[in-house]
Amino acid sequence: MPAAVSIQGLTKKYLDVFNKSEITAVDNLEIDVEEGEIFGFLGRNGAGKTTTIKMLLGLIFPTSGTATVLGHPLGDTATKTQTSYLPENPYFYENMTGWDVMDFYAKLFHITEPARSKRVKECLEDVHLDPKAWQRPLHGYSKGMLQRIGIAQALINDPKLLFLDEPTSGLDPIAHAELREIIVNVGKRGKTVFLSSHQLPDVELVCSRVAIIHQGKLLTTGTINELTAGEKVEIRAEGKLNGDLEKIKSIADIVEVNDTHIRIPSADERNVTDILDIIRSAKATIIAVMPHRRTLEEVFVDTVLKEGGN
Ligand SMILES: Nc1ncnc2c1ncn2[C@@H]1O[C@H](COP(=O)(O)OP(=O)(O)OP(=O)(O)O)[C@@H](O)[C@H]1O
Ligand SMILES: [Mg+2]
Repeated sequence: MPAAVSIQGLTKKYLDVFNKSEITAVDNLEIDVEEGEIFGFLGRNGAGKTTTIKMLLGLIFPTSGTATVLGHPLGDTATKTQTSYLPENPYFYENMTGWDVMDFYAKLFHITEPARSKRVKECLEDVHLDPKAWQRPLHGYSKGMLQRIGIAQALINDPKLLFLDEPTSGLDPIAHAELREIIVNVGKRGKTVFLSSHQLPDVELVCSRVAIIHQGKLLTTGTINELTAGEKVEIRAEGKLNGDLEKIKSIADIVEVNDTHIRIPSADERNVTDILDIIRSAKATIIAVMPHRRTLEEVFVDTVLKEGGN
């Protein structure tokens, strides 16, 4: 599968004119995003996410390093028609109606009638914007409705690759769930989504792979499964262990025994086979062996605190 985005040593330094110093916003970044992935791009405030996205879109220039987007070098106009962008703070002309804003974006991509009206309607439907609001000016829209317009405009050119910068920030839980579903549906149509977000439960549900950056540097990248896999396993069994209880206690920190119920809440995964062998040899019944998974939020906090150094 070819890479939709391939970032090689991308670096961006800004001049801090007030302190007469340099800020390294993005620092020698190396990331590959495959076609068709929903890729989560994570990092604390100021980690360098928006700066990276703007470089990939050709809106600002790297200080050093390079990248390809859909196989084209940075800034190549060939990518413009195949990519789209939802900025973190989108600004729309508030006196225009939802329909007219979409019609305006469609014209920017030279989509002519009758295809234009059809496309505008499809996009507004895709983001589940209530048709009653289509002819209302945007100043009467809620944050959730504006965010839907933001995603709809990012779909207007039927892009291969969407850059979504914080698409679910500030939304209520139901709007969150709906936007998540919209993003998943975009992914199901084979599009690549480069998603920057602080909403880690959302990312965990929609993304196949993520990268965590800190102070412009890549800390880790991997699939959600790889990153959330834990090293501890919970084991439950039924029966009497008698003398074998001591054997288990010598290799597991905690062993809870309640009448005939045995629970080992956090066995080290390297000892699981030995523990199960002891339980079997005692003729007790193994009820469950459950690997612990960490949440993406735990992975993020651990990674940034341990590897980021603060
Ligand atoms: N135009 C600019 N001039 C100077 N410094 C900038 C500029 N834009 C961003 N920065 C600095 O670059 C760093 C990275 O900023 P960036 O906006 O890329 O972070 P971010 O990860 O998108 O943060 P957030 O999650 O808050 O949106 C920050 O230290 C920021 O202050
Ligand atoms: Mg940002």
